Amino acid sequence: MSDVPVGRLAGKVALVTGASRGIGAAIAERMVAEGAAVAVNYVANETAANAVVARIRAAGGTAEAIQGDVSLVASVAPLIAETIRRLGRIDVLVNNAAVSAGIAFDAVTEADFDRLVATNMKSTLFLSQAAARAMAPGSAIVNVSSIGTRGANPMTLVYVATKAAVEMMTISMARALGPRGIRVVAVAPGMTDTEMLRSVIAPEILAEAASRNTQGRLGQVGDIASVVAFLASDEAGWINGETIHANGGQRG
Ligand SMILES: NC(=O)c1ccc[n+]([C@@H]2O[C@H](COP(=O)([O-])OP(=O)(O)OC[C@H]3O[C@@H](n4cnc5c(N)ncnc54)[C@H](OP(=O)(O)O)[C@@H]3O)[C@@H](O)[C@H]2O)c1
Repeated sequence: MSDVPVGRLAGKVALVTGASRGIGAAIAERMVAEGAAVAVNYVANETAANAVVARIRAAGGTAEAIQGDVSLVASVAPLIAETIRRLGRIDVLVNNAAVSAGIAFDAVTEADFDRLVATNMKSTLFLSQAAARAMAPGSAIVNVSSIGTRGANPMTLVYVATKAAVEMMTISMARALGPRGIRVVAVAPGMTDTEMLRSVIAPEILAEAASRNTQGRLGQVGDIASVVAFLASDEAGWINGETIHANGGQRG
């Protein structure tokens, strides 16, 4: 028997940014398994986004692939409008899309800084702003932060700064949107086995991190997706403005 609580998100429409791969794809599939219809956003990888949608439809779910570069404020309103046009409404926004980069302090350029800030941080504010304008009371915004905000890694200086900003915006937006009946929460994954992780962390460091985890392994995308689905659901209705860490006991 499946351990997915079927129907917990029934009737809800969710937009998941960066859902063509990695954690975002797993969030999209998990939310559909719990009853939602999902917009699968991507920026470049149309084939991967279409594959996620095909898997969801093959399992009897509803999903639409929607292209949009979240780092551009001009893309934000069209992305929300297209979600509503194709799926009828928006009840949940998952601000998952992000980029990371391992860059030493002395090597960080203005272009690196602007790219990470625009994709990870600016998008979170302006997508939430546009989504909230279309959301009814009972809706939720789930931001994806990172365990990196608990530590200090000089190679991911800009990335973790954007994620710290996401956590602070989560608190502030929860205050701003509370009176409208919209919750804003965040999940902070630990090391989770995706292309992003493998692009910035060497295999031997990953193996060492896995061995140090309380469960002796890296996180898998499903470990994060189930937490996001819960946070988006009405069952998490009393959780607001918080960042929930999901990391198997990893510290820093
Ligand atoms: N993996 C980890 O260990 C880890 C740990 C902590 C936090 N996180 C966070 O978890 C989230 C997902 O990470 P991941 O590891 O799954 O990443 P990933 O495998 O690199 O996937 C990134 C996703 O974001 C999309 N994307 C990138 N730039 C975009 C843009 N400008 N507009 C729209 N979509 C864009 C990509 O779309 P395309 O396929 O079209 O390129 C892809 O779907 C991120 O917020 C990340 O910071 C990850």
